[in-house]
Amino acid sequence: MVTDTKAGGFAGWLRDFEEQARARAAAGDPEWARGARLEPCVVRSLQRFQVGEDGDGAFLIGKAERAGDAEYAAAVRLFIAEEQNHARMLGRLLDAAGAGTIGAHWSDAIFVRARRAMGLRVELMVLLVAEVIALGFYRALYEGAGDPLAAEVAGRLLADERRHVPFHCRRMRQGLERVPRPLRAAALLAWRAAVAGGALIIVADHGRALRRLGRGRARFVRDVLAEARAAAAEISRPPGRGAWPRRRRPGRRPGR
Ligand SMILES: [Fe+2]
Ligand SMILES: [Fe+2]
Repeated sequence: MVTDTKAGGFAGWLRDFEEQARARAAAGDPEWARGARLEPCVVRSLQRFQVGEDGDGAFLIGKAERAGDAEYAAAVRLFIAEEQNHARMLGRLLDAAGAGTIGAHWSDAIFVRARRAMGLRVELMVLLVAEVIALGFYRALYEGAGDPLAAEVAGRLLADERRHVPFHCRRMRQGLERVPRPLRAAALLAWRAAVAGGALIIVADHGRALRRLGRGRARFVRDVLAEARAAAAEISRPPGRGAWPRRRRPGRRPGR
């Protein structure tokens, strides 16, 4: 668990991202040569998530640098590197399954446009919607892929996303701490509504893949909303009281 106690407080997160990068380099890649067997509907879903993971993060890095916290900006660079690694691993997994990547998808274009148009705080809120939804999807893939290579990739992505969510929550808590409490509560309510909207788009667009992975639409939405509730609680948590409570193993459901 990463804990940062001082005002800016991202030294611990920076250390965590650096340690993860070292651990990743030491562990090396999954054994791509063993190949993967994936249903066409799951392949299509992975292709869309792969597009979402890809990107250079230049806008986010620029905003983080302008925020004036060098440790946070350095941590954001390493966060972007992890997301790029997700895109690379999903690309390799698709390749191992005999499928290619796709260049673009409308759902990603909407997210990117919404994020770039706003300041750091709103960009993080939009990004956190995608992170919470990705958590739900990679957990479904981890538990339901029925393929060892896909499960290994999903497990690695899931472990990273479980760190990304509290990392963004930490920065959003700082960004919202001077906002009057009723306004902050309204912002978090709007954010949770955006997560619900995003989850509904995913079940409409990826319903067949989710079913194939053993996730009913209702359960997927429930899982994502539980993650969103926990993240909102973390963002509104008063400084110094408790900490992000969970460092779950891949596969454990929220609150269980
Ligand atoms: Fe990711
Ligand atoms: Fe992420």
